[in-house]
Amino acid sequence: MDLNNVVNRNRDPKPWTEGDNIPWNDADFSRRMLREHLSQDHDAASRRSDIIDRQVEWIHTHILKGTPSRILDLACGPGLYTSRLASMGHKCNGIDYSPASISYAKEIALEKDLEIEYIHADIRNAEFPLDQDLVLFISGELNVFSPSDAEAILDKISGSLANNGRLVLEVHGPGVIEANGSAPDSWSSMSSGLWSGSPYICLQDNHWRPDLKAAVVRYYLIDPATGDVKLHSASYQDYSNEEYRSILSGCGFNNVEMYPSLTGAEDDQMEYFRVIVAEK
Ligand SMILES: C[S@@+](CC[C@H](N)C(=O)[O-])C[C@H]1O[C@@H](n2cnc3c(N)ncnc32)[C@H](O)[C@@H]1O
Repeated sequence: MDLNNVVNRNRDPKPWTEGDNIPWNDADFSRRMLREHLSQDHDAASRRSDIIDRQVEWIHTHILKGTPSRILDLACGPGLYTSRLASMGHKCNGIDYSPASISYAKEIALEKDLEIEYIHADIRNAEFPLDQDLVLFISGELNVFSPSDAEAILDKISGSLANNGRLVLEVHGPGVIEANGSAPDSWSSMSSGLWSGSPYICLQDNHWRPDLKAAVVRYYLIDPATGDVKLHSASYQDYSNEEYRSILSGCGFNNVEMYPSLTGAEDDQMEYFRVIVAEK
């Protein structure tokens, strides 16, 4: 791809046609992203430790009532939730397709002698462990999948849960995906950063498709030495509460409850997300 592709880009991109996500599963990108997960300066890739502590405490006391449980964390990243939950006596599984995150998560489990099984896989293709008491699918990741993939994943989650097992689903809050898709285009240049270890220019354009209730965010990465361009495109599906209820019910869930955050209460450190708890 070269700069002409940027000039001639589709001005009204269709979600999930030019790519489906940023390259979490690329080895080099995942190593750079791991630094962001572990950073205590922001909450962009993973939340800061004090927030995760509060979220895990809510999951342990409110959702699990302190009962030792089998937990599957989907898109678990570097295992910041699973390692805490395993320390509290839960038996955890984590699945993620970021190589650096899964390696880090495995190292921590070994170092702390925690009972956690990590699988390096794409959750769309992975087999999920059975008889789980709780599945965590947080950080708004469900919205990143096309509606058909999202439904297939929810179906598989339902299949992995024991009867009366629960799903804790953290999704983008109302209006957040529309606001992101409607944000002005922007650009930045770095001598080295998240997108590359070498100098790059990143042009970001954002689109909101009201007809599809979906946003597309494209990152055009320009190598200033050669003019070569790489495109990464992520799409996000918005759903109303009624739509979440209906999809969950179609996948075999009931007793759906909505919470303002992953601590159960309004929390301005998690204002862009909402939490849905559903029972199988
Ligand atoms: C925003 S991070 C959140 C990680 C973790 N839940 C946390 O809060 O620390 C999103 C994670 O989703 C993972 N992910 C995205 N799509 C995935 C897929 N199709 N299969 C497996 N993992 C995926 C990424 O690799 C990344 O680790």
